[in-house]
Amino acid sequence: MIVEGELTPPGDKSISHRALLLASLATGSSRIRGLSPSNDVESTARILRQLGVRITAVASENHVTGVGIGGLNLPQSSLDCGNSGTTARLTAGVVSASAFQTTFTGDSSLSCRPMQRVAEPLRAMGADVTLENGKHLPMTVSGASLRGIEWSSGVASAQVKSAVLLAGIAGRVAVTFTEPQQSRDHTERMLAQMGVTVSNTRNRVLLEPSDTLQPLDLNVPGDPSAAAYLVALATLARQGRITVRRVCLNETRTGFFRVLARMGGKVRLLPECEEGGEPTGTIEALDAALTGVGIKSDEIPSLIDELPVIAVLAARASGVTTIAGAGELRVKESDRIFQVVSNLRRLGIDAQELPDGMRITGTDAPMAGRVITNGDHRIAMAFGVLALDTRNSIEIDDPDCVTVSYPNYWSDARSILK
Ligand code: S3P
Repeated sequence: MIVEGELTPPGDKSISHRALLLASLATGSSRIRGLSPSNDVESTARILRQLGVRITAVASENHVTGVGIGGLNLPQSSLDCGNSGTTARLTAGVVSASAFQTTFTGDSSLSCRPMQRVAEPLRAMGADVTLENGKHLPMTVSGASLRGIEWSSGVASAQVKSAVLLAGIAGRVAVTFTEPQQSRDHTERMLAQMGVTVSNTRNRVLLEPSDTLQPLDLNVPGDPSAAAYLVALATLARQGRITVRRVCLNETRTGFFRVLARMGGKVRLLPECEEGGEPTGTIEALDAALTGVGIKSDEIPSLIDELPVIAVLAARASGVTTIAGAGELRVKESDRIFQVVSNLRRLGIDAQELPDGMRITGTDAPMAGRVITNGDHRIAMAFGVLALDTRNSIEIDDPDCVTVSYPNYWSDARSILK
């Protein structure tokens, strides 16, 4: 396989969700360019419209007419978040200070994912939150006059942290949020850009109440999680050389590239500018021979979504790769520990599940078999890296599920295959 070319990945999905949500609460109109074209971000836009926000697309720009803090309207029906945990959890924070009741639903995958992690802090702030079986969607949030909170989270989760910060914004109350390791900090950076006083010292965030949010004028940087698959493709090629432009290089998101370099990958991150408070730049990668490594809990949050593609690279590395401290993988769009290990085994790879991770022994042998995605976009894209390699004979059962985060994945990846 020869991989060569230059690409710009889609706009970052995490930043896009936050841009739509925060622009909705701003006083005035926001302009957002390069929003993620994913189904997940479309879910956030759809439910914000149901809450009375005007979001329009003009050429390649999106305009959001902010309703101001406290300005959202009672939705006429429940809010369907599709496959998107970020949509459900962050919006729960946003509506927790409203004068009405909001019900969140989702697809079969989202309906199995844990929601107590957001319900508990929002209840502690004064909102009434009910969950199906005390755990899952449908989730009904009855807004209230909130009180400030000092919350220590048992999991490093940017979705939980952001839900609590957004509740602090919506309720105009102070928040102190501590987590075991620092999760992605896009919400904090965007709030600072909008004039809010927020300080972040590694795994603790302090938010001061604010009366207004200034509107955004934002170019969304490219998604490093999308870039990771393209870099993996170049790494595994017989000859590979790829340049990925305009990528968000925020350190809370770039753990994949650090681990790849540790495995022997030839990858360089070249920061160039800031977009909306986010370091942004170019990634260059070449083909390389990889060696297995150990990955532990400290670095997990910065590469949580990239663990399936790391596992795929580990299957092509010499020696053993062990991933530990990644129990959160079991509550993603699928149980990604089970899905990754069972798919690797289907392809003939020596892989074992651990309670909070996996162990993989790499091989040079050609791979063959059918990958079961269970509708999980990151399983499809990660195993897609192996499926696109003509030495292998691999079928992905549901290639279209990539639309959840990266609709043009297959055409982008094929465009760099020579
Ligand atoms: C996200 C946070 C992460 C990540 C998800 C997007 C976000 O989830 O896995 O894809 O945008 O805040 P957790 O916060 O549950 O770890």
